[in-house]
Amino acid sequence: MRTNSSTIEVRPITGSIGAEISGVNIAEELSSAAIADIRQALLDHLVIFLRDQDITPAQQLAFVSRFGEPDIYPFVKGLEDYPQITPILKLPEETINFGGVWHSDTVYQPTPPMATILYAKELPPTGGDTLFANQYQAYESLSAPLRKILDGLTAVNSAAKGSAAHTRSSRVADAGTGLAAEVMEAEHPVIRTHPETGRKALFVNTGHTVRFKGMTEAESAPILGFLYQHQIKPEFCCRFAWGPGSLAFWDNRCAQHYPVNDYHGHTRLLHRVTLKGDKPY
Ligand code: SIN
Repeated sequence: MRTNSSTIEVRPITGSIGAEISGVNIAEELSSAAIADIRQALLDHLVIFLRDQDITPAQQLAFVSRFGEPDIYPFVKGLEDYPQITPILKLPEETINFGGVWHSDTVYQPTPPMATILYAKELPPTGGDTLFANQYQAYESLSAPLRKILDGLTAVNSAAKGSAAHTRSSRVADAGTGLAAEVMEAEHPVIRTHPETGRKALFVNTGHTVRFKGMTEAESAPILGFLYQHQIKPEFCCRFAWGPGSLAFWDNRCAQHYPVNDYHGHTRLLHRVTLKGDKPY
């Protein structure tokens, strides 16, 4: 286990992905050593979880700004005084949950976010967990010939793909920015190299990827369909059960996530911030 220079403790929750962090109160200004240890834990475990945090929107922004520059989500307005914070909301009368499909955040942008930080505000009595999947392992566990083919391919990712576009419909209806999903499309390597760890990760997802560049959707579908199944194998995943004051911080460059929609009739509200990322290579 890595030795930390601050007082934080890092406890992995599976053999593949995810760690719980304790010994830190993010309402306070953290030392540079603590920030460095949290960043290292994120790089090592791809998603980290903090429990029992009591923070305001300003404190959430102050904490996340130690790791990068907060971005604005293109389709739904943020909080009135904090436009970088997007409410992730499902109401008791709704059946569709925002982002309710396996995905990495907003990969239809030319520079998709490096990370996302989600803070629990109101939770259902049970359910509403979030799953995460390790895309380094998804890549590394493929056969060498398939890795070689995928290494040379580019993916076309669209905000208009039905599976993800459908999940944002309620929030776009009541707080949309007016931007049309069709205008956001980006091409990224199917296998990206993480700019900090140097490791390769599979970078397609069922929510946004529509085809390989230079191929039709029909030609792309067999391999993409295989990859969508492969990349979420249980042995690459962890599952986080939210509690009051929980915060999840994940690396979109090497992890995907899936919010479980098993809490109809209850409200679930979280505050989300994404941090600007680089152009994938
Ligand atoms: C998201 O895709 O950002 C939402 C994740 C969640 O609601 O757990």
